[in-house]
Amino acid sequence: MTAAPVRLGIIGLGAMGTRLLAVASQHPDFDVRRVSDPNRSAEDFPGLSFSADSTDLVQADDLDAVYIATPPGLHERFSLAALATGKAVFCEKPLAVDLAEGRRMAEAAKRAGVATAVNFALSDQASVAEIERADVGDVLGVDIRLHFPRWPRPFQADARWLDEREQGGFVREVLSHFVYLTDRILGPLRVEVAGVDYAPGASEVAAHGLFRAGEVPVHVSGRAGMAGAERYEWILWGSRRSYLLRDWSELFVSDGGDWKPVELAGGSQAERLSLFAAAVRGADAGPGLADFAAALRVQEVIEAFHGAEVR
Ligand SMILES: NC(=O)c1ccc[n+]([C@@H]2O[C@H](COP(=O)([O-])OP(=O)(O)OC[C@H]3O[C@@H](n4cnc5c(N)ncnc54)[C@H](O)[C@@H]3O)[C@@H](O)[C@H]2O)c1
Repeated sequence: MTAAPVRLGIIGLGAMGTRLLAVASQHPDFDVRRVSDPNRSAEDFPGLSFSADSTDLVQADDLDAVYIATPPGLHERFSLAALATGKAVFCEKPLAVDLAEGRRMAEAAKRAGVATAVNFALSDQASVAEIERADVGDVLGVDIRLHFPRWPRPFQADARWLDEREQGGFVREVLSHFVYLTDRILGPLRVEVAGVDYAPGASEVAAHGLFRAGEVPVHVSGRAGMAGAERYEWILWGSRRSYLLRDWSELFVSDGGDWKPVELAGGSQAERLSLFAAAVRGADAGPGLADFAAALRVQEVIEAFHGAEVR
């Protein structure tokens, strides 16, 4: 017998919310019932119940789950409200900006009798599973290098909050994914050094950090606004084997000598939605979906860059 589709509401219909709407609308495990955004209008979403006020959506009694794709300062409000009405929550990263909000979210998720997950794009990637399985020898370190000639990036050009200090910047928006990956592979991270440089009146132009997982050093360097190519590099240096994950999906390996490509398929927004649907129906989603506790560990590292107390 096929399970009934998960009745989903989507809060926030900007760059990410509309992407997920497109994927969920085609997904057999989901029935997208309601959408909300104070800055959009019903005509853009024919066939869906639209509300400008997301409180109406959260209170609706015909939903099993909500997906939250607002700027991060609103994640707590809508997550807690949805959990209070018994709905499962799939929340965008970063979990929150304010640490007290993130901690309340992680607490609420622990107590909730429903599924909760955070949408880290690398969580279900085959490349990540490959690195987890590999015998790399001793792990000697991780390097994370991020380059953004244009910030915000073109696909988020309308998301002006990304260029503001309050919620924006590439550290929260992008480094979070790679901190999640590093925490997943090496375990919890301790921040030794973390800082950002700001352009006058705008968000970060440079970031630098040193964390440790046990004794293993993790070096971070990021830049925005310079001439150059957009680039995302995460390198795990092992004594026997090293891995380079470039631009989210390109995996390379070295057993000594040049990087060699590793061809792998697996991992997508549709697959993360399948895992979330399984979790809503009571199954264990496994490592392919990030939980709120992992997202809180990431947030704690990320906010150290913005002056939150270094643990
Ligand atoms: N997982 C990923 O790969 C990924 C990629 C991009 C963005 N994101 C995350 O998704 C979230 C949204 O980012 P974005 O790029 O779509 O930003 P965006 O600015 O394009 O979209 C945010 C939307 O939220 C809406 N909004 C504001 N207040 C609201 C409210 N009270 N109720 C409902 N909607 C409201 C805005 O009108 C806007 O349309 C952020 O947390 C971001 O970090 C995740």
